[in-house]
Amino acid sequence: MQITNLTHTGRPSEPLDPRQLEFGRMFTPNFFVTEYKNGEWRNPRIQPVEPFALHPASLVFHYCQTVFEGMKAFRQEDGRVVLFRPEMNAKRMQQSCARLSIPQIDEDFFIQAIRALVENERHFLPGEPGCLYIRPTAMGVDATLGVKSASEFIFFILTLPSGGYFKGAGEGPGAIDVLVTRSVVRTAPGLMGGVKAGANYAGTIKITEEAKAMGCAQVLFLDAHDHQYVEEMGGMNIMFVQNGGLRTPPVTTDTILRGVTRDSLLVLAREHGLEVREDPITIDELITGVKNGSITEMFACGTAAVVIGINSLRFEDEPSIRTAVGSPGPVTMKLYEALRGIQYGRVPDRHLWVYEVCPAHAGASVGRATDAQGSLRATWT
Ligand code: COI
Repeated sequence: MQITNLTHTGRPSEPLDPRQLEFGRMFTPNFFVTEYKNGEWRNPRIQPVEPFALHPASLVFHYCQTVFEGMKAFRQEDGRVVLFRPEMNAKRMQQSCARLSIPQIDEDFFIQAIRALVENERHFLPGEPGCLYIRPTAMGVDATLGVKSASEFIFFILTLPSGGYFKGAGEGPGAIDVLVTRSVVRTAPGLMGGVKAGANYAGTIKITEEAKAMGCAQVLFLDAHDHQYVEEMGGMNIMFVQNGGLRTPPVTTDTILRGVTRDSLLVLAREHGLEVREDPITIDELITGVKNGSITEMFACGTAAVVIGINSLRFEDEPSIRTAVGSPGPVTMKLYEALRGIQYGRVPDRHLWVYEVCPAHAGASVGRATDAQGSLRATWT
């Protein structure tokens, strides 16, 4: 499909430190958008970001018929602009759309749209440790209060100049404290936990606010049936270093998201000679492992967060635990460096994970970012 470009590429001038960028608050000036009507996606275009005029009865406002993806573009050391494993996001977007009865977005078209947008916005991509965070989103917009699928949809892609997801992270993995909840569940078998539905995240907001009030940046959710099995956090997967190997809950159920970073780290861990175990782990086993020293490191991973050490696990009504090795520990660091090395082009891309959007000469790291109101927030060279 032909993508119309309605933008004038600007070249902002003043410098910005990606370490100062607050995640999710700054947007490049243009976005990709297409509408689905009468059975087809129409008028795909890149245009200046502007608010949507949607009827207050739009389905997405009431029944959350919306799914999204999280991806990143990187400026490599040689100046190339690349995406990281975009085909995995394209496939997952299809799975998410299928689960929520949203019309399919062809995988090739999905990547073509991202590629065109990132190329257009490349001047807003800061160098390491920055990136362009990419947020493809699809939603049902018919104005009707009947609980049924929409017949009209919008698919759009935003790009955001970004540093670390957590304040202070960016130069290295950093570390956070995590609240383990036994009272709130994120999902259950048969629900939508295995796909990227907006509603999954809505359910985590209140408990995450409570966790933040306790000094914890994330919440770890357990399974809905036994309240025992470790699943995932509000927006990232979880991993442990146990007896020198890497262990993580399996994604064989539909309650844990198949994270792209998760999958990449498992491949890299094997490559680094670590034994990898994808098997269920109960919270009691985790506590025992930390206490007896068999679990030496805990960390979270995701596209936005990359890799982040877990300092301590706190509980609603029992003492907190932490590993004897400080966080981020040595294995966490090694995996973080291996991943970042590929993303920023410092180490060979043996798995063909990076996907070139622009060659080395196309666009210096110079940019300008606005907030949601369109006010200038930052510029950089
Ligand atoms: C991502 O990692 O890209 C996500 O979508 C998770 C969200 C918490 C930002």
